[in-house]
Amino acid sequence: MTGEETPELEDDDYRTTDVLVVGSGIAGLAAALGAARELEQREGSAVTLATKATRPEGASSWWAQGGIAVSRDDPAQFKEDILAASADTSDPEAVDVLVEEANDAVRDVLVDTLGVEFDTTGAGDTTGDGNGGGDDFDFTREAAHDEPRILHVDAATGKHIHVPFLNYLDDHDGVEVLDDTAALDLVSHEGRVNGALLERDGEVTPTFAGATVLATGGIGDLYPRSTNPNGSTGDGIAMAALAGANVADMEYVQFHPTVFVGGDGDTDEPFLVSEAVRGEGGVLRNADGERFMPDYHEDAELAPRDVVSRAVQTEREATGGVTLDVSGLDFAAAFPSLAEKCKERGVGWTEGIPVGPAEHFLCGGVDVDTHGRTSLDRLYAVGECSCTGVHGANRLASTSLLEGLVWGLRAGEDAAGSDPEVVEAPELLDRDPALPDNFAREKFVRLRRVMDECVGIRRHPDDLGRAQAVLRRLKGEVDAYVRTRTSRSLYELRHASVTALLVTRAAAENEESVGTHNVVEEPATTRAD
Ligand code: SIN
Repeated sequence: MTGEETPELEDDDYRTTDVLVVGSGIAGLAAALGAARELEQREGSAVTLATKATRPEGASSWWAQGGIAVSRDDPAQFKEDILAASADTSDPEAVDVLVEEANDAVRDVLVDTLGVEFDTTGAGDTTGDGNGGGDDFDFTREAAHDEPRILHVDAATGKHIHVPFLNYLDDHDGVEVLDDTAALDLVSHEGRVNGALLERDGEVTPTFAGATVLATGGIGDLYPRSTNPNGSTGDGIAMAALAGANVADMEYVQFHPTVFVGGDGDTDEPFLVSEAVRGEGGVLRNADGERFMPDYHEDAELAPRDVVSRAVQTEREATGGVTLDVSGLDFAAAFPSLAEKCKERGVGWTEGIPVGPAEHFLCGGVDVDTHGRTSLDRLYAVGECSCTGVHGANRLASTSLLEGLVWGLRAGEDAAGSDPEVVEAPELLDRDPALPDNFAREKFVRLRRVMDECVGIRRHPDDLGRAQAVLRRLKGEVDAYVRTRTSRSLYELRHASVTALLVTRAAAENEESVGTHNVVEEPATTRAD
């Protein structure tokens, strides 16, 4: 604690912790584990993990299908694939960290600590260590990977990692998990981040931490169709940016090409049809029944994700729809959970699964180094809300869980060791809690519409200018409400509008089409889509 600066706060007005982690996807869980391991010798609750989620499904990691890539015995080739998918825009130093630490991190945390049972070939445990290890793993392949290197459990890998990870930390003496708890703002003082204002049931508690790790996930709520869980409002990015942290690569928003879109091309409930399905032989056909990907790229369905997404969009517009033809594989046996989902939606996959692109992953975020350190003292960011440089302009499939795991562990270890300081925390006023919820719902509709029209798979300078004007106005209105009211939905809207502006501004400043950032010649108003 700092002597002179300590304000007069009663002990029960605030909470202190060595490391505060905000977010409960794989990156946040790994950060909590890394910090807890480092702090093991100390007594009491060393790590506090705060998450908005009330159920594991509230974190994007739970939804991950394809799996987690590892280096196997060829990290150099894995690195080459990551760089190629990114159109050579990834940071080679960051990629080195990822590919060199991949095998050990997965073995140590996922297999040995959590006991995740990745699918095996049934050939037996070739290592003899009882963990189903060695070449017995059933490595699968996804687009732009040179070889099968992806560990998976059916096409539902995320939940098979996430649930045991959460249970493990719940039982860990050094970790306190606070669910249904949102971070509204960071507390910073003289250039140092000292924790966050945490809200639960309308009560706001300043939580002072030796270090704060943001792991708040993606930005799916900024778009009408996304593969992310609800509540993906860019909270960590916005809070960090408002506190003065640098962000990077914000224009690189990845759209997944094969998201179930329902028979009429539109649905409120999209679900991801994993790239692994194409890896196992699924092919894309337009409404005329033609296989079109070979005309777009020599790797056809296994081309980089941004190429496939644009092709799917173009063919949908030209012919009226795109389906994923899985007749060449035993779909129900290979992907039982996806087959089940299709059945629930009344889709017989024999006639093909109707698919289209939807927002999936932000490659940019809060700018961090190889230990997850941001440009602000004692503030870290990991997982999708961060920009490590690994993904550049386009992320290679099945590297996001791995990046979250590797950087989470590194950041957690690095973050442990500083004592919390109690400083002046901003006071939030709450004069009319009822109004903002309606306000937020309506404004979110406007925000999503403008992001979809102007900052989606295609961008034109005129549209980006229009979007910035709309978003600036929106942010101005939100800021006015935030001055006198406190509600989670209002803060989520604030975070979403700040993040949407950061994406749009970065897109407007980058005139070069690369990876996911696609600058087109015709504005949306004159396009025939
Ligand atoms: C998928 O299963 O297609 C998604 C994998 C990823 O986004 O890395």
